[in-house]
Amino acid sequence: MASTLSGKIFVVTGAGSGIGRAISLALAKNGATVVASDLNFILAKKTATDIQASGGTSDAHALDVTKADQSTALAKTVSQDYGRLDGWVNNAGVSSMNRLVDLTEGDWDFNMNVNAKGAFFGTQAAARVMVNQPLDPISGLRGKIINIASMAAKRGNAPFLAHYVASKFAVVGLTQAAAGELAQQRITVNSVCPGYVATGMQERELTWEANLRGITVEEVKQLYITDTPLGRIETAEDVASIVIFLASPLSDFITGEAINVNGGSFMD
Ligand SMILES: NC(=O)c1ccc[n+]([C@@H]2O[C@H](COP(=O)([O-])OP(=O)(O)OC[C@H]3O[C@@H](n4cnc5c(N)ncnc54)[C@H](O)[C@@H]3O)[C@@H](O)[C@H]2O)c1
Repeated sequence: MASTLSGKIFVVTGAGSGIGRAISLALAKNGATVVASDLNFILAKKTATDIQASGGTSDAHALDVTKADQSTALAKTVSQDYGRLDGWVNNAGVSSMNRLVDLTEGDWDFNMNVNAKGAFFGTQAAARVMVNQPLDPISGLRGKIINIASMAAKRGNAPFLAHYVASKFAVVGLTQAAAGELAQQRITVNSVCPGYVATGMQERELTWEANLRGITVEEVKQLYITDTPLGRIETAEDVASIVIFLASPLSDFITGEAINVNGGSFMD
């Protein structure tokens, strides 16, 4: 499947590290041109440079997903530069941890703004460009929007993460509403729901959770593995594989779904 996505133009948000970086590398490996965007431009640039070094096509943009005008501008620029926008991956996300009773308005706003509002702005910016481009003659679609939600988008019982859970349930709700509205324009919208993925975000969460529980980081990691029937911590590449499926023609008739990739931690 080396060139399944050949000629396709994809934007990835939060492409500078973790899951977004893995998604970007996987999209490029499968032939897509990748517009790597991140709040941290240096990290986005590194992703784009690494793709170019391995023979792929990529460029980097600074993007703060909480700013609607920045997402709008990026979608327009990509459409002008490449003549088309085939896919937009709303991956950028943040977390923080605390007991429900200790969460602050700042925790709530930070998580909701990046995870929920950011996915909304990205979806809107991408859709506004996609609706005005011709149907792809092979797929009969105008574009694909893929949201990185979370296991916490379906399983509310996630300790110390009430605000994050709310933001990720919002992403799945947004996915369904957008999929319903945009189907007529032949744009698909789907979510991916990962479990415990080894990234910078997880490193931070391990420390916070260890402090909140009064146990060691290694003990918290063991809790994650015990909660995963397939018996290991998830990799960013595990998540990227599902994104490739959703980006590829194999999923052209799927929309409004929230696909679990979590080693069996949560099944529905
Ligand atoms: N790591 C996990 O266990 C896990 C599990 C389920 C879902 N997720 C989700 O996967 C996505 C990626 O998470 P990750 O683990 O790779 O995190 P990460 O912290 O490793 O990477 C997140 C990236 O997003 C960027 N970012 C942060 N705020 C931004 C903003 N306002 N605008 C643009 N970019 C911004 C960061 O600079 C960083 O490069 C997130 O949506 C996260 O909620 C992660």
